[in-house]
Amino acid sequence: MKLLKFNLVFIPVLALCFGAIGYLTQQALVESARQHVEQNARIIMEAALSSRTYTTKQVAPLLLQKNFKLETAVSELRKTIEDVPKSVDQNVPNDLRTSVKRGFLLGQQHALTALEDFLNSIKGKSDELLDTEFHPQSVPAFAATEIFGYLREKFPNYFYKEATLNPTNPRDRATDWETDIVNQFRGDTDHIEISAARDTPNGISVFLARPIKVNNVSCLECHSTAEKAPPEMIKLYGTANGFGWKLDDIIGAQIVSVPLSVPLQIAEAAFFRLLWWFVGAFLVILLIGNVMVFALTRPPRLPREAK
Ligand code: HEC
Repeated sequence: MKLLKFNLVFIPVLALCFGAIGYLTQQALVESARQHVEQNARIIMEAALSSRTYTTKQVAPLLLQKNFKLETAVSELRKTIEDVPKSVDQNVPNDLRTSVKRGFLLGQQHALTALEDFLNSIKGKSDELLDTEFHPQSVPAFAATEIFGYLREKFPNYFYKEATLNPTNPRDRATDWETDIVNQFRGDTDHIEISAARDTPNGISVFLARPIKVNNVSCLECHSTAEKAPPEMIKLYGTANGFGWKLDDIIGAQIVSVPLSVPLQIAEAAFFRLLWWFVGAFLVILLIGNVMVFALTRPPRLPREAK
């Protein structure tokens, strides 16, 4: 009877304790998965920033240097072409016979005509040597986006975007939820990072966003007005988008998205493994409780009668 009473109280209390521990453990595992994913997103964000820095510090100066060398070489070539004698030198030594003189002049004339033909043929070519194309590869935003395009071939649920309200390249245009994030940064300029979980067609993802600010006057060279931008860039991108940016404006946000589903599955599997341990512990404690109550409440044995 005592054992029944004990179990009627002990089992619900024990179940409540284990329920609470189970719930807290599950919450802790999910939170740790989320933090793990957020850390991954932070590393990806730093990788994007590094690829931007690499482009600014190494690729763009290299292209500039190469172009400068080419321009110098072409202008020297042009000068050489201009300095080439255009007419026959009439100063023939007087002691030559008339026929030799004529031959001398004729030879010079032939050589000059051949040289002129040659110079005319290379005249237009010198401009072809000049690099007049715009290379987006030297633009940091392009480099970071392209690099992540390659990464996504292996990890399609990972995502990086320089989401911009008025972008030069339409692929960078901010979608609805991205626009909300950019506007949050624009509304509160002290905000330097936003991170949250989000439902996507491929499951839950954690995103991490940081504002993109026009932090240098050099940006305005290409992003203020179409007239100021390099004509080769306009040829490639047109005049409609990516202009009118102002110094210190927040014009977009770098957004990294990392899937949460895999770490969540791992956390769930860990939780179910723990659950079996919980059930085992529950049963052991119950058994020990019952044995102890049984032992303590057993009526004391009567001493044997003395013979
Ligand atoms: C030499 C011209 C040039 C300069 C200077 C330049 N950009 Fe750009 N920027 C571009 C081009 C071109 C693109 C489009 C690249 C692409 O196709 O992805 C672009 C793209 C971007 C993007 C992605 C959104 C969009 O417009 O497509 C951001 C953000 C950006 N630039 C920010 C900056 C900032 C900040 C600076 C200054 C630190 C800067 N840019 C300087 C030419 C330039």
